This record gives sequence, C-alpha cells and structure tokens, in this order.
Amino acid sequence: MPLVFPFDPDITRAATIPARLYNDPVYLELERERVFAHGWQLVARAEQLARSGDYVTAEVGVESIVIVRDGDALRGFHNVCLHRAGPVAQGCGRRQTLQCRYHGWTYSLAGGLLHAPEMEGVQNFRPDDMHLMPVAVAAWGPLVFANLDGKAPPLAEVLENIPHRVAPFHCESMRYVMRKEYELACNWKVYVDNYLEGYHVPVVHPGLHRELDYDHYRVEPHRYYSLQHAPLRPVPPVGGDRRYVPEANQVPQAFYVWIFPNIMLNIYMGQMQTNVVVPLAHDRTRVVFEWFATN
Ligand code: FES
Repeated sequence: MPLVFPFDPDITRAATIPARLYNDPVYLELERERVFAHGWQLVARAEQLARSGDYVTAEVGVESIVIVRDGDALRGFHNVCLHRAGPVAQGCGRRQTLQCRYHGWTYSLAGGLLHAPEMEGVQNFRPDDMHLMPVAVAAWGPLVFANLDGKAPPLAEVLENIPHRVAPFHCESMRYVMRKEYELACNWKVYVDNYLEGYHVPVVHPGLHRELDYDHYRVEPHRYYSLQHAPLRPVPPVGGDRRYVPEANQVPQAFYVWIFPNIMLNIYMGQMQTNVVVPLAHDRTRVVFEWFATN
C-alpha cells in the first residue's frame, strides 16, 4: 500500500485524504515518529514551573519526559534513568534533584548524574560524563512546550505572529482555572479535521451560531498554524437570547488557533481554552482541555 497519495494544493480541488490514514494503525506509528517527535508539543503550564525545583512529567507520543525549573532555566529530559531506564520523576512537584526510585541514581536539575550508589570500582564508569537525555523546552505566556528531537524550528518561529494577533486578549497574563480530559473513539485527525472548519457551526452549534457573526467567519491558513476568527454579534438593545455579552474592556471577537499538528487555543471573552489532541491508538484519542482566564 503506498504511503504517499496525490495532493493538490489548489483548495478549489480539495479532496478528503485516503481513509487508510485514519483507520490503519501503521500511520499512527509513522505520525509519532515523523510528526509528533519533530514538533513542539504543549506539555505544561508555566505556573507549574514557577520556582526552582518545580517539575512536571508528561507523555509525548510513547515517550515520557520531565520538565524542570533550574533557577532561571527551563530544562527538559527524557524521563529515563541512565542505569536501567526507570523514571527519574513521577507526576509533578518540587525537588532539588531528580532521583530514580529503582536503584537510587540521583541527577541534578541540569541533568548531570550526581550519585550512583555502590558503583565504586566499576570500569569505565564516569559519572561526570553522564547526563539525562535532553529535550528542547520553550515557553510562551502561560504555556510550556517541548520538542523531543530538538530539531524543530524555534518555538517563536512556529508560533509566527500568533502572539501579535492574540495580544489584545492578554493571554500571557491569564491564570489557570481548570482542566478536563475526554476520551473519544476516533482517530486524532478526525477531531482536528472538525476543529479546522466552522462550516458545521450553524447546524451543530446553534447556541454558538447565535453568538458569532457567521457571515464574517474567516479562516487564515499560515505556515504552521491556522486562525479562524469571527466577530461576536452585536447585542440587541432589548430582548435577544445572547449568552455572552462582552464587557467594555473585552475584545468582541472569537479566535480559534490551531498549531500544527494537535494544539488548539480558543480565545474569547477574557478566557483562553487550550485543547491538546493526544492519539492513544489509531482509533482512540484523548483531548485535554485547560481553561485560563484574566484576573
Ligand atoms: S534504573 Fe534507575 S537507578 Fe537503576
């Protein structure tokens, strides 16, 4: 079965990609290897990593990683001990070292091996040369991203002008409110496909359709991201059934940002909701929602 398929970049001749990209497990393995490992993944919130020693573990594809705050620096490592691959951190918290709970090897927040019990006399064992395997880490506003192979373009390049476009919403200063996770029986791209069009809004989301000026709903494709935006409908002076009424200091717009391949930012009315679409299997997907709001 060919891995490649014809693709016509002329949108007027757009066609659905082959079904096998959704229902054949081999494509998920390829996507993990060639897409997810090469790009930036949203893995933590900046407020979880505010103080030196704060750490957060995360999964990217089938890899486990740990992000730590080491003084002014954010660092990321594969969460894999150099001895026999035990995890060096669990969950999240604050520590001044990372310690594997299998045989107790201990690492600094910079990833260097500090202590390995009972290794005296072992030939060619040089702790000073031993470091946890790094992953790239970068932050934007309240969001922390990691890149497994360290070969992604800089995060600022991938975000392009998103920070400028969403600046009026002041996302950088929003605080974390809550998190929810959902599991769906579908390929992860089905969720993304749905997100990338507002075509379904009038039929599937009549409540949202009442809020948005659908005639001015626009989609802007960019190199690494897509922006969908629409103004909120004007509020009638009397009557109407509007749920959201912008306050004087709020931008009367809804922004839906998708960052390739699986990160979404929904921004409106003084709040931002992040969605991370996590493939669990070719036919199973977890979507992680986190809400942020202005103070
Ligand atoms: S596997 Fe980590 S100390 Fe042995």
